[in-house]
Amino acid sequence: MSSPPPGKRRSMQMNYKIALVPGDGIGPDVVTEAVKVLDKIGEKYGHRFQYTTVLAGGAAIDAVGECLPQNTIDVCRNSDAVLLGAVGGWKWDTLPGDQRPERALLGLRKELGLFANLRPALLFEELAEACPLKPEIIEGGLDIVVVRELTGGIYFGEKGYKDTELGRAAYDVEQYAEEEIRRIAVVAFDMAMKRNKKLTSVDKANVLESSRHWRNIVKEVSGEYPEVELSHMYIDNAAMQMVRDPKQFDVIVTSNIFGDILSDEASMITGSIGMLPSASLAKGNFGMYEPVHGSAPDIAGQDKANPMATILSAAMMLRYTFGLSREADDVEAAVKSVLAAGGRTSDLARPGKEALGTKEAGDLIATAVGK
Ligand code: IPM
Ligand code: MG
Repeated sequence: MSSPPPGKRRSMQMNYKIALVPGDGIGPDVVTEAVKVLDKIGEKYGHRFQYTTVLAGGAAIDAVGECLPQNTIDVCRNSDAVLLGAVGGWKWDTLPGDQRPERALLGLRKELGLFANLRPALLFEELAEACPLKPEIIEGGLDIVVVRELTGGIYFGEKGYKDTELGRAAYDVEQYAEEEIRRIAVVAFDMAMKRNKKLTSVDKANVLESSRHWRNIVKEVSGEYPEVELSHMYIDNAAMQMVRDPKQFDVIVTSNIFGDILSDEASMITGSIGMLPSASLAKGNFGMYEPVHGSAPDIAGQDKANPMATILSAAMMLRYTFGLSREADDVEAAVKSVLAAGGRTSDLARPGKEALGTKEAGDLIATAVGK
């Protein structure tokens, strides 16, 4: 990144290279709005964001016959950060597993070394009524971050077929090496230190060897963070506690597959998956940022998608990769101000109430940033 040390940043005009991967479905709709907001930030604070748009997912399959072209990987590698919309859709659902658009996502994670996935589940005060849990369960709000390991475990372990007495068997291996566990634990403990110093490590150590290993390494790392209150929870119990008493959680650290499941559950209890951003970080400051929602092909290109999750993902990019926390705060405040003024896209609007279109929502947020 062409940036001086953090202390010097403020006074200089900065250049940031961003790879845009709009992808499929509503991906292009929402990425366009996030760019609008980033450009407003650029204008206001004197930064220059340079974008290079590349293909991935179904869009890449259609254009060049593969879901993750080498050029996409190269452009992402040569950028300071990546902003991704979504990949996948019905159109490609019948392709064999190794050719599906989702492979592009897994490929990017692996190729770019994005081992730490931060998935905040924040209940916006203005949207509390969208939460499917009883009001007394969420009183005072919900603010959880799931720190999901993203380049190891069963997603990337050995897989294959073999013959058994009961017929052909398929297998996927869950395996974690010390360093893989240690580095994600460090990210989670650091995050806990910046928040309420409370960390829950989720595993299945009553059954799985890989989980016992996980637990031991997390305990070891906790020695370096005496101020953080660490607890361990089995995944089945965690899934239950997430709906019974979600306020007990602050930062959660867990494996790739458990994090996949638990982060969807956490997002659902906020009631508005259209609002949730995510960051996937590598060593150093490099990161890929994307909304948690999927490609929603049924509303693609119709100006109906909620761009807020992608705009909030851009805010995470400003914060975590570029170290621009004032700018990130500004974007988050702009989103909140639009919500507070009653602005709702169709996923959030009450039945019968008028909803903002994608572009209109983006415009309102960009205008709020410009103030
Ligand atoms: C996610 C998604 C992906 C995952 C799929 C699309 C491969 O569910 O980002 O949570 O399982 O990681
Ligand atoms: Mg998932």
